[in-house]
Amino acid sequence: MSFSGQTVDKKITYSFPSTGLIWQDRQHRELFKRVEFFVGAIEEGRGKEEVLKLLEFLDEYVVFHFHDEERAMEKAGFPDSLAHMKEHTGFIDELSELRVELSNKYSPEIVDRIRTRIVRWLKDHIGRADKELGSFLLDEDGRGVHR
Ligand SMILES: [Fe+2]
Ligand SMILES: [Fe+2]
Repeated sequence: MSFSGQTVDKKITYSFPSTGLIWQDRQHRELFKRVEFFVGAIEEGRGKEEVLKLLEFLDEYVVFHFHDEERAMEKAGFPDSLAHMKEHTGFIDELSELRVELSNKYSPEIVDRIRTRIVRWLKDHIGRADKELGSFLLDEDGRGVHR
């Protein structure tokens, strides 16, 4: 596995809703791969340091992905951009809170709760907010290459 940010070919366990927009779906797939690495490390009982590193790895990609979506919103004049960006910021804050929590106390219960929260947030956000954005961007340019 690499931490340099390139795509790693791996099956996705967590299915995610498609927004219909190719670049957005591709990034979501990458995001879920990173969730998988994180969850895999937990399940294999790897050490706290490694689990924290993977959480950071996930965090990095989230920032990159949110930035791309926000740039696309701005370019296209997406009307719900403020609410959408607020959700992004909320998740970034949550990830850093989880990181602090995990470094203070490492237990299977905490790890499990963190995993559930991350997967639930992503599925909800992608299935609702990102889908709305994806449809808007597709209507915008008719091809979905707006980015
Ligand atoms: Fe997204
Ligand atoms: Fe989003």
